[in-house]
Amino acid sequence: MTTITSAEQRALDLDAADPLPTRRAEFCVPPHGDGEAAYFAGNSLGLQPRALRDRLVAELDDWARLGVEGHTEARRPWLPYHELLRGPAARLVGARPEEVVVMNSLTVNLHLLMVSFYRPAPERHAIVIEDSAFPSDSYAVRSQVAFHGYRPEEAIVRLRPRPGEAVLRTPDVIEYLRRYGERVALVLLGAVNYYTGELLDIYAITAAGHDAGAIVGWDLAHAAGNVPLRMHDSGADWAAWCSYKYLNSGPGSLAGAFVHERHLADRGLPKFAGWWSTDPATRFQMAPVVSPVDTADSWQLSNPPILAMAPVLVSLEMFDQTGMPALRAKSVRLTGYLETLLDEVCADRPATVITPRDLRRRGAQLSVQISGHDAGPLTGRLRHEFGVFADARRPDVIRLAPVPMYNTFHDCWRAASALAAVLDG
Ligand SMILES: Cc1ncc(COP(=O)(O)O)c(C=O)c1O
Repeated sequence: MTTITSAEQRALDLDAADPLPTRRAEFCVPPHGDGEAAYFAGNSLGLQPRALRDRLVAELDDWARLGVEGHTEARRPWLPYHELLRGPAARLVGARPEEVVVMNSLTVNLHLLMVSFYRPAPERHAIVIEDSAFPSDSYAVRSQVAFHGYRPEEAIVRLRPRPGEAVLRTPDVIEYLRRYGERVALVLLGAVNYYTGELLDIYAITAAGHDAGAIVGWDLAHAAGNVPLRMHDSGADWAAWCSYKYLNSGPGSLAGAFVHERHLADRGLPKFAGWWSTDPATRFQMAPVVSPVDTADSWQLSNPPILAMAPVLVSLEMFDQTGMPALRAKSVRLTGYLETLLDEVCADRPATVITPRDLRRRGAQLSVQISGHDAGPLTGRLRHEFGVFADARRPDVIRLAPVPMYNTFHDCWRAASALAAVLDG
């Protein structure tokens, strides 16, 4: 019989007393031994909502029963299916419904939006990113610069933390833009950095970029479903995000795009088009020239993949039910608790939490740097010996994300105890 220590009991008590009950039972949590894993990799791939299977089967059944007529006769007709996602996606990122669309995947959306919003001129063609930008963003901006005939080595500005520091300071980004902004065409930053978990000040950086005359776009991959967002009010020009992390919509699932209202009716913007860019009221007149609507839908190209949209809809419904304010409040409690436990683990071991300590500057993720260890084998041991799913960013960072939809205080206790054990031997 295993005895429960007072520390573990405290975690269980916190779960029992928390004002927002976990929705863990509504997700497929990977098994571990006779029980369940403690899953801290929701910042990489979120868990499968149990409701999804029936929803997918419903679409398969409608397709089997109706064939092509499902476009108009399915229980959720496929032709306007993407419109079902518009409201909940807009609420999630703090946008107006007409400013968002769910389509494609994230890097594709980054490119489509840069077609419109990266318009370099000889005297202003730089793109500002973080030095620790996700590689796909780095490749995307480099290829955009080269596509326009400029040299990536010269045009891409990679902002670094100060020497000896792990995270970028928002005032340093603003200072850069104040000093050198006249040559910047586009600022493209991760609102929450994938590596450090740092949340940048979207409002302040957007304002600084605009003051400098630049366009400001945001990669919300690690922010959507993690932190409350107010993209419309921030004034950001555009943003894109994926839905397989905190949004639990499945591997490689569809992405979102936001375009600020002030650009929606701008017919002068360069934009790639396809038949889903055109006004649905006249789409089937099969005209040779696109007739775009003044919404983010006009960035769509193809008819949407319904089997890929169903998971996004299921997930967005769950976010609507709980609401970001309640999720964020619980996220702050869970992450703060994990931080306290990790501080105890790190106190006499070669490990440090590199994520900002100020909760206004982070979301759910805590990144732990372990000096002298390879993070890969450590996360392997966490998973196989302790059932703790974490993620290694080699060489030496382990990322842990207590996700408020399904993680518990008890999971946090398990993660911290397991980390201590693997570091000790
Ligand atoms: C911050 C960030 N940007 C871009 C990507 C690339 O996403 P995709 O493969 O969906 O294009 C990822 C993937 O994890 C990411 O974390």
